[in-house]
Formats: sequence, C-alpha cells, structure tokens
Amino acid sequence: MPRVLVVGGTGLAGRAVTAEAIERGHDVVVASRRVPDDDAPAYVPGADYRFADLVTGDGLEEVLEGADVLVDASNGGGRAASHVFASGSQNLLHTAARFGVRQAVLLSIVNVDRSAYPYYRAKAAQERNYQESPIETRIVRATQFHDFITAFFERGSRLGVIPAPTKISFQPIAVGDVARVLVDAAEGHGAPNATRSIGGPEIRTARELAGEWKSVTGGRGAIVGLRVGGPLGATWRAGENLVPADALDGVTYRDWLSSSVA
Ligand SMILES: NC(=O)c1ccc[n+]([C@@H]2O[C@H](COP(=O)([O-])OP(=O)(O)OC[C@H]3O[C@@H](n4cnc5c(N)ncnc54)[C@H](OP(=O)(O)O)[C@@H]3O)[C@@H](O)[C@H]2O)c1
Repeated sequence: MPRVLVVGGTGLAGRAVTAEAIERGHDVVVASRRVPDDDAPAYVPGADYRFADLVTGDGLEEVLEGADVLVDASNGGGRAASHVFASGSQNLLHTAARFGVRQAVLLSIVNVDRSAYPYYRAKAAQERNYQESPIETRIVRATQFHDFITAFFERGSRLGVIPAPTKISFQPIAVGDVARVLVDAAEGHGAPNATRSIGGPEIRTARELAGEWKSVTGGRGAIVGLRVGGPLGATWRAGENLVPADALDGVTYRDWLSSSVA
C-alpha cells in the first residue's frame, strides 16, 4: 500500500482523513507541530505521528522521505494563515518534489478565489502553489463543515443568543464525507491537476440551521438575525459558499447533530 502523509493530520479534517486512510489499509504518517499522546482525542491508532513545521520547514524532509502521496489538511488562523498557506505550502511542495512524492492533494474551500476575505486570499495563494507544482496535484474544495456552523451557534448560545446570519444560506458537509473524497483523490481517483468542488446534501438558510441546532441540542438562547459584515459576509450573501450542482449524497446537518448529541 502507498505511504500517505497527512499534513495537519491532528486537526479536525486531518483526523478524519487519517482515520479513513488507516481504515483503507494505507501506511499513514501524520505531520504537525504538536505530536499527540496516544490517549489524546487527536490520536488515531495505527498512524505514525511526527513533528514538522510547514512555515520554518523543520522536519519536512524527515516526514516526506518515503511518502508516495501527501494530503494537506493544514490550517492557520489570523496572520498565521498566510504563513501556513502561502509560504508553508511552497516549502512543503518544493521538499516533496525533491523527495520524489508522486501526488499531492489539497483540502480547500469552494470558490475561495472569488473573495477578498484575507483568509480566503491566503487559501487561494495556497491553491496556486499546488496548481504550479511539478507534482501531480488534486484540489478538493469543500463547503463549510457541520462543525464550523455548529461552533458559530455554540459561541453565541453561551452569551444567550443564537446568531443566524441574515440573507445567507449554507450547504454544510460532514467532515467524514470530505475525508472520503480526499482519500479517493490520494488514491488517484479523478482527473489529475484538477479542482473538484463538493458540498453537503442540503442548502439551508442560516436561520433554518440555527433552528435545527436549537431543537436537536436544546441549546439556550433566542435565534437572532445577524448581519455578517466585511468581505466574508459579502462572499456568503453572494452565495459563493454554495455549490448546488456538486452536492454529495452525504450526512445532513440534522442527522450529524443527532449522532453528535447521542
Ligand atoms: N472549517 C471549514 O468549514 C472548512 C471548510 C472547507 C475547507 N476547510 C479547510 O480545511 C483545512 C483544515 O481545517 P481544520 O478546521 O481541519 O483545521 P484545524 O482543525 O485547525 O487543524 C489544523 C492542522 O494544521 C496543523 N498545523 C497548523 N500550523 C502548522 C504548521 N505551521 N506546520 C504543520 N502543521 C500545522 C495543526 O497542528 P499543529 O497546530 O500542532 O501544528 C493541525 O493538525 C483548512 O485549510 C481549511 O481552510 C475548512
């Protein structure tokens, strides 16, 4: 079986990719700055956890040695976003090319190149690095994860209100469904050097999703309309976060919530 390197494999999406790849019998190495203990929630039994830092380049040669394919599920917040996405991916791909890695798969966001939101601009720079790499690449662009939408409602509920962004719909997707498509891509499915978009099974207004969250979790607070400002709000109101033609027949938000609560 090929050796799969999951970069950012201790994160939300990376953990699901790691579990899926192990389940399919791959030899999996996970790279991140912090190596989890074997009783940590991020630890997937069977994976080999190693240190590497995309930004400084430390440890990259060691984790890429012997890898056939890499899946990049790294992330960075705030100012770290451009370091991880723009320079980090360049460090990763240059080193991967030197070490003979055959294929690289990137997890990205739908229509990320059509927004002025700084985090999205950094992701678009990361995508360009993949498109320009001499390695065979596949980019998988996903809609917002169920967890992302949920975190939004949970944060507000702690303050007694459940914020529902006005004039905005989402097409949330289960991370497990995203992981399956990423591992398919790592196995060489789909056209090489191409970008595939995937979305969740349903498009729902933010208010409908807030209502489902409240009814399934019993979360506290009134659902309150919230105008999301700035370039992210503009991107979402323009529907750039939706890919109706690319909906997967995956887990709905309600079913995902119900199984999370159970
Ligand atoms: N959230 C969504 O709704 C959504 C939707 C579509 C696509 N995406 C994309 O999915 C990707 C993964 O998101 P996520 O929420 O799963 O991320 P996450 O939970 O924040 O995990 C990020 C991972 O990257 C690692 N990392 C961060 N900086 C690093 C560095 N300098 N060197 C090496 N590893 C580093 C982290 O480990 P350490 O901190 O230990 O290094 C961790 O393993 C992101 O690129 C995001 O844009 C997200």
